[in-house]
Amino acid sequence: MAVTGILRVGLVQIKVLDFDESLVHYRDRIGLDIVGNIDEDRIMLKTYDEFDHHSLVLHKADTAGIDFIAFKADNEKTVNKIIEKTKSEYGFDYEIMSDQPGYGEIHTFTVPTGHKIGIYNEVELAEDYPMIRNPYIWKKEPKGMAPTCFDHALLYGPDQATTVKWLTEVLGLAITEILLKEDGENHLCTWLSANTRGHDLAVLDFPEPNVLHHISFHLEDWHAVGHAADIMARYEIKIDAGPMRHGITRGQTIYFFDPSGNRNETFAGGYEFFPDHPVRIWDADHAGAGIFYYDKALNDRFLSVYS
Ligand SMILES: [Fe+2]
Repeated sequence: MAVTGILRVGLVQIKVLDFDESLVHYRDRIGLDIVGNIDEDRIMLKTYDEFDHHSLVLHKADTAGIDFIAFKADNEKTVNKIIEKTKSEYGFDYEIMSDQPGYGEIHTFTVPTGHKIGIYNEVELAEDYPMIRNPYIWKKEPKGMAPTCFDHALLYGPDQATTVKWLTEVLGLAITEILLKEDGENHLCTWLSANTRGHDLAVLDFPEPNVLHHISFHLEDWHAVGHAADIMARYEIKIDAGPMRHGITRGQTIYFFDPSGNRNETFAGGYEFFPDHPVRIWDADHAGAGIFYYDKALNDRFLSVYS
């Protein structure tokens, strides 16, 4: 196995205001499968093509936003090394979560951006995981926007520099792209990958802690992004931007909102990353093209609307 250490981002729990309208959005429009309830306030979901027990939890709460995001490690040794190093060198608040069905312990740290980031290595296969013997590409016809997997998240918060240092030096993630601040030196936003994707996580420097900018679902191709746009138009889903393309990661994308105000993204294409690739760097005056490659200008909502 060539990808070792942290393998990928694998689980995210977000807050929603109402289950009925959230399920219409995430189950019927995006097309996720319901795995079951954790308790009366939390519902587990996954895409048709994911092997692990579940990848998204909707948590009914009074505000939108993110509870935590978690990375899957290759084994217990990796997890223990991360716990030890974080405790001795970073001193972040630490808690063990053991209430996610199908998952072993999730070791969670509160990083300087204010987010809870978990690490785990044990997770059961989903009851309805993809076929592996003479497999069809799907058992049941995918529905809605038909995402293949949870892809990544963009988080906003203070001191992204220390958070990125921890993500690279302790978790071993690679920086794929950087957007610089006006000073031409410090990072406004950093894109990080655990594998061959353009990113598993991006972190943007922002005064307010624990902010979710978006969670993203992977679609097969540009055609699927177009089909997702048709669904958004038909069902009056509020589109933030797109269909369009990012210069950064080169993803083909649409930003849109769930009924609670959490921003979602459908993401396809993009390049394959390998750890020997040089970091791509964007100057502040090229931020427009980095995020909105065709328009070459940021819309105001991108920086000012979040959950
Ligand atoms: Fe994204």
